[in-house]
Amino acid sequence: MPQASSSIGVFDSGVGGLSVLRALIAALPHERFVYLADSGNAPYGERGDAFVARRTHAITEYLRSQYDIKALVVACNTATAAAIHEVRSSHPELPLVGVEPALKPAVGLTHTGRIGVLGTRGTLTSAKFARLQASLGGQAEFVVQPCDGLAHAIERSVGWPSGPNAPGTETFALCEKYLASMKPFGSAPGSIDTLVLGCTHYVFVEEALRSLVGPQVQLIETGEPVARQTRRLLEQKSLLAPEDPRARPPAPVLLTTGALELLQTAAARWLQLPPECCSTVAIP
Ligand code: DGL
Repeated sequence: MPQASSSIGVFDSGVGGLSVLRALIAALPHERFVYLADSGNAPYGERGDAFVARRTHAITEYLRSQYDIKALVVACNTATAAAIHEVRSSHPELPLVGVEPALKPAVGLTHTGRIGVLGTRGTLTSAKFARLQASLGGQAEFVVQPCDGLAHAIERSVGWPSGPNAPGTETFALCEKYLASMKPFGSAPGSIDTLVLGCTHYVFVEEALRSLVGPQVQLIETGEPVARQTRRLLEQKSLLAPEDPRARPPAPVLLTTGALELLQTAAARWLQLPPECCSTVAIP
């Protein structure tokens, strides 16, 4: 049985969910985290629901059996759309938090009434996303753009000295291409003034996106609300780790089914974590 001192599991198709882990560590510094990057099987976005649901189940079983996790954060919009309801029914006692494109907050923020949404094809063509969009029907216009290849390009670019945000990189070119088909951006009537990052990988190209859409456009991601929801759930179940101000925050455990160096580089670049935190696992 998991205890308050047990770890919180966090998983994504790859390194993108580190953007959510970063927000979780900031909001819950006394918690232990075990992060699983399924980089050996990434990207999920163009793989289809059955494949993504199978991986989500296998990873949930693995984290429960090997780490006795007290809660699971599915830090992947694509896996949340394809499988969260099934995980909820096969693990009814496990506190579970998913991520979905932040359309509701965007509706509250837009002035022009035009909201751009970037995500994977899997997320944006899912029934879950269609329901979310329909529930907000009439409140704003959504310009939805699946970004094939972008999450994969971000995974590949982690180790490059220039990083994924520099003009001239493959990631920058993809951002440019997808945003060009959504124009115009800005605060003028008829323009997109709010851009939802509906994939956890895209937080790591925020700088490139910002430089392309201009300063008047608000970019919205989901790390902080997910961290708040995780805290609420743990509080309800009396599973929050004790907050001892003298104790050093425990280092997270980072696991990957893919290349170790990729995870180590991403962890150093985005979370300032040492390579010893990272190791590889096989999850068939
Ligand atoms: N980071 C994931 C998401 O939030 C998936 C990216 C991918 O593997 O295609 O959707």
